[in-house]
Amino acid sequence: AAVRGLSTTAQLFKINNVTVIGAGLMGSGIAQVSANAKLNVVVVDSNQSALDKAQKGIESSLQRVAKKKHADDAKAQTALVSSVLDRIKMSTNVSDSVKDADLVIEAIVENIDIKRKLFAEVEAAAKPTTLITTNTSSLRLADIGLNLKDKTRFGGLHFFNPVPMMKLLEVVRHNDTSDDTFQKLMEYGKAVGKTTVACKDTPGFIVNRLLVPYMFEALRLYERGDASMPDIDVAMKLGAGYPMGPFELSDYVGLDTCKFIMDGWHKQYPDEVAFKPSPLLDSLVDAGKTGRKSGEGFYKYK
Ligand code: CAA
Ligand code: NAD
Repeated sequence: AAVRGLSTTAQLFKINNVTVIGAGLMGSGIAQVSANAKLNVVVVDSNQSALDKAQKGIESSLQRVAKKKHADDAKAQTALVSSVLDRIKMSTNVSDSVKDADLVIEAIVENIDIKRKLFAEVEAAAKPTTLITTNTSSLRLADIGLNLKDKTRFGGLHFFNPVPMMKLLEVVRHNDTSDDTFQKLMEYGKAVGKTTVACKDTPGFIVNRLLVPYMFEALRLYERGDASMPDIDVAMKLGAGYPMGPFELSDYVGLDTCKFIMDGWHKQYPDEVAFKPSPLLDSLVDAGKTGRKSGEGFYKYK
């Protein structure tokens, strides 16, 4: 029954504590928008220096947001930044950090074995009601969650980079995701200010099924010697209205993540030409040139 004075959204929305696992590009953004929506957030990473970097990244992103929101009010800017930061705790311990979570969002490396191992640990330590989700770019939820005992509370929350700026959230359900779980994930998306779209458990969901083959096709075009990288980027920005060209975007996403997606899809669809390994991408990732986050990828950023 409806509770007087509360909107349907408020009644449905019971998520207070969010644990984000992985403090990289995506995890730090997801933590930021969750804390900004007044949720209590714990960010977990196996690497302490990733947590330190995330702390700094969230702070500088919040400063940009605060500057816009309170243009001529330095006091209000500082208050906004510290109120959001105060809601974010950092940890290197997965089990401790998921104990009180209502919602767990996994945003670690795009590797199925590592993700599966993590989800076993999460399910063992979390409450029996905790919603467990993945931010995977390209893997099927049915594969990632294969060993979960209760698959009804498992779903996908696929955010876009940079999380504080990108307005979309893909909410993914696989065959066993319950209606209640799906509904709560949609409510969470609205609470953090995103527009949600419903996705089935198909590789790449909606956006990456279209965007990633385009990025790979740009690589082929360059590898064939048909055009230079800057010309391809300029062409797609000015000729198709994209905010970044495909090489700028790949550097922004992370070339390691691009390679994980390509290798995974190649394994799954060995005859698909678009997903065949790229010598250039492989050599850059081998050399640690993973894009903007490492200071160099297709382009140099230092
Ligand atoms: N935090 C807070 N604010 C940010 C920000 C961040 N991390 N990054 C950018 N901004 C803000 C800036 O403060 C600036 O605000 P004002 O215009 O009000 O001053 C605004 O965004 C524009 O930023 P810039 O001027 O620095 O640069 P820009 O105009 O090129 O915009 C961009 C940056 C929003 C990233 C834009 O280039 C863009 O939309 N790029 C494409 C991003 C994209 O396609 N993302 C999807 C990648 S695919 C994916 O994520 C899925 C996957 O699974 C791989
Ligand atoms: P990233 O490389 O920036 O960060 C990954 C973080 O996970 C690192 O800090 C690493 O230390 C940590 N980590 C790795 N294994 C761990 C473990 N077992 N336990 C705890 N922490 C661990 O990666 P990212 O770009 O943030 O991507 C994370 C996920 O989000 C991937 O699944 C990726 O496909 C997906 N994604 C990425 C983008 C993008 O544009 N980069 C967009 C949407 C979704």
